[in-house]
Amino acid sequence: MKRVGILTSGGDAPGMNAAIRAVTRSAIYNSLEVIGFRRGYEGLLDGDVVPLSVSSVGGIIHRGGTMLRTARSERFIKPEGVREGLQRLKEYDIDALVVIGGDGSFRGAYDLHKLGFPVVGIPGTIDNDMAGTDCTIGFDTACNTALQCIEKLRDTASSHERLFLVEVMGRNAGFLALEAAVAAGAEHVLIPEVPFDMDALCKKLHYARERGKSHSLIIVAEGVMSASELQSRLKDTGGFDARIIVLGHIQRGGSPSSFDAVLASRLGGGAVDALLKGEFGTMVGRIAGQIVASPIQASWEDKKNLDSDMLALVDILGI
Ligand code: F6P
Repeated sequence: MKRVGILTSGGDAPGMNAAIRAVTRSAIYNSLEVIGFRRGYEGLLDGDVVPLSVSSVGGIIHRGGTMLRTARSERFIKPEGVREGLQRLKEYDIDALVVIGGDGSFRGAYDLHKLGFPVVGIPGTIDNDMAGTDCTIGFDTACNTALQCIEKLRDTASSHERLFLVEVMGRNAGFLALEAAVAAGAEHVLIPEVPFDMDALCKKLHYARERGKSHSLIIVAEGVMSASELQSRLKDTGGFDARIIVLGHIQRGGSPSSFDAVLASRLGGGAVDALLKGEFGTMVGRIAGQIVASPIQASWEDKKNLDSDMLALVDILGI
């Protein structure tokens, strides 16, 4: 193996730059050349390349976003797109590809792997919805960003004795919502993994009011419903007057936390180790402190379970 390609794909996540740096420097340390593709699979198909060196990935470990940029590629979902991508990789003499992204990006990598091309994935998404790793790159930073915002909201919620609904990202998973809810001491959390019960929520809110609780925070994962839908349903069903805030893409920005910068650095090094050992078609993850390579398709085929104790804690602590 002589030359490795690298791309970031799908939604960006804090720590992706740290992962690019780690892959590039670990590969060069092992006498490999590194070529970056800009804008994910789109850049691969368009031949939008940038050679990466030790110095070109300097000064990025602490930066949010991704220096390679990213995209969601419609073209690469189709079999002809994947075949074209394979052709481009051959044209650029790339021997293996490292893909940093979420499960959508890994499906593309798996398609390349099925055509016989060596790939290794690094899980990078704020959603943390991938099996094969305890944590994805960006999740910790996004939780901290959500926490900072929610703490500010709590100040005004308590001054005005208001009910606030905070919509957080996470796609179809509730990891981000649950973590933020426990960290922020939210009174309630709604996540897609638990069936939503409007009457039960209204009962809890009424009960809290009767006990003299003047303000409450409800964290709602986007996979359940939007904060504005919840706002109108709470009004219609329970007569509650709630204010809403949608944290949105703020959660994807900012410098990576120390946890994410370290995770990204370890996974970047781990991805190059996997390539050198010939562990193709894998994703590197961190499980119980160890860097482990597992089949890339397990990241979406296996189920990553939410911690039910955490869920119970929101109820117990948010009384
Ligand atoms: O997968 C990361 C994520 O931020 C999800 O939480 C969210 O649903 C989605 O991406 C938003 O994607 P886009 O930026 O393309 O609207």
